[in-house]
Amino acid sequence: MDFVRSFHTLDEKTIMPWLRDVRMQAYAPASGYRVGAVLIVKTATGFLGFAGVNVESIEHRLSIHGEEGALSALVTTLGPDVAIESAWVIGGVDDHGSESDMVAHCCGNCRQQLAGLARTPDIRVRNCALSGRVVDTALNDLLPDSFSFDNFNAESSALRSRAIETITPDQDVNDLARRAVRNEPHDIPALRAWAGELKSLNYASHTSQTVILALDNGTYVAGVKIENAVFTGLSAMQAALAIANVSQKPGWSVTEAFVFSERGGDAGALRGDEIMPLSLSALQILNEFSKSSIIPLTHLCANGDGMTMTLADWGAEAPRMHHETRRIRNGLLLSAA
Ligand code: THU
Ligand code: ZN
Repeated sequence: MDFVRSFHTLDEKTIMPWLRDVRMQAYAPASGYRVGAVLIVKTATGFLGFAGVNVESIEHRLSIHGEEGALSALVTTLGPDVAIESAWVIGGVDDHGSESDMVAHCCGNCRQQLAGLARTPDIRVRNCALSGRVVDTALNDLLPDSFSFDNFNAESSALRSRAIETITPDQDVNDLARRAVRNEPHDIPALRAWAGELKSLNYASHTSQTVILALDNGTYVAGVKIENAVFTGLSAMQAALAIANVSQKPGWSVTEAFVFSERGGDAGALRGDEIMPLSLSALQILNEFSKSSIIPLTHLCANGDGMTMTLADWGAEAPRMHHETRRIRNGLLLSAA
């Protein structure tokens, strides 16, 4: 399924068929409630839409909502300087029938996350039922007072307001899609070059992370970390898995994973020999989409070095706030400081 499309004009007739198709990509074994979401940004001459679905996890807090899946596609593809123009969400349980009139309203946390990237506080949110009923509301009526980076980080809020002024330039949709999904083999230098083109939304920590997953169907899928002001954002692993779910024919699994980390701002740049190990939650959701917990996972350093261990072994190296980085020498992990 396409996870990005371009439009000259936007109306219900053009979005609704795509939104319904997107929803069928949802992975909802726990609830049976499938969600499809499309986030719209304005370009110089038209609009771009980015699609997402809900992706459930045995650990419920690690589940990705449809809106968050669409955010993953949007930020991985366009970077952090984005401003959402409108949002479309559809959801329902298949067993309730296609005439169900129950509208898929956005949960509180999705409202909050949309507010963090909205072009203006009053962008339209269109929540839909399977029957086609649409409830069209201004975001600030759904969430009157949102918490923002203004509350605690002046620098982040300045970055964010600059981003809102940036209009997305017109770009070829196929080129955009290649930022997140590629179908040809990639060696390590090619993966490094690809990751180098992507940018996390890291206004809170000034720490970037990009994950690229190799799937058993020959596809590679990337995702970047997406932070928000209330610390309920998406890890790079969640973003990559969200994009894999919306874009791939069901039945795929991850065969190998690659991780790129970077740090800037006050935190000081990451040393060339340092990596930031994945969190246990990132490993948990990776495990859910891998055939086994011994798939190889490679952390790559800026100096050309890197280290490969199994997904399971990386679990022992979960980062802590004061030991978030680890050093690699000649392909081996140095003991923790
Ligand atoms: N869900 C969404 O995708 N978006 C929302 O804002 C509401 C809830 C999903 C999460 C979970 O997979 C299922 O719907 C039931 O909560
Ligand atoms: Zn939600």
